[in-house]
Amino acid sequence: MSTEKKKALFICLGNICRSPIAEGVFQKTVNDMGLGNEWEIDSAAIGGWHVGNPPDWRALDTMKKHGVPYNNCARQIVSEDFNHYDFIFGMDETNMKDLNKRAPRGSKAKLLLFGDFDPQGDRIIRDPYYDSDSAGFEKCYQQSVRCSKGFLERLAAGELNN
Ligand code: 4NP
Repeated sequence: MSTEKKKALFICLGNICRSPIAEGVFQKTVNDMGLGNEWEIDSAAIGGWHVGNPPDWRALDTMKKHGVPYNNCARQIVSEDFNHYDFIFGMDETNMKDLNKRAPRGSKAKLLLFGDFDPQGDRIIRDPYYDSDSAGFEKCYQQSVRCSKGFLERLAAGELNN
């Protein structure tokens, strides 16, 4: 078995709503599969507004409700991330545009829309930050569960090798 960890980074605009949920759910998914020590996982923001802050209370509430541990605080993506991580996941098309714009030429990371791994085909993880309730956070959780499994299945099937 390779000793090098696979590395995944989850990105959204602020790193306080969607990408922390995606990160926490992906970490729990690999942990539950007994693969936790094979992965290095983090999340980060496109923008710098919330750097150092914990996730939005609705994101924390949603994760707590589903038994997903989470202790990280927001950080902004840096250019080194594009050569450190194997997979960088965006939550929506705007994230993907921003990631493609920021990626240094020839960098290692595959830039992937997380929703492309949803077997139900719900491709966009909508930003719930300005919502007046928690429903969008629950939906983000459910999408993250499906996308994490879907991605890991496709990876195991060798469909993401170059
Ligand atoms: P996120 O949600 O990208 O899912 O973390 C947002 C959080 C904060 C802001 C926008 C989106 N904001 O503009 O501060």
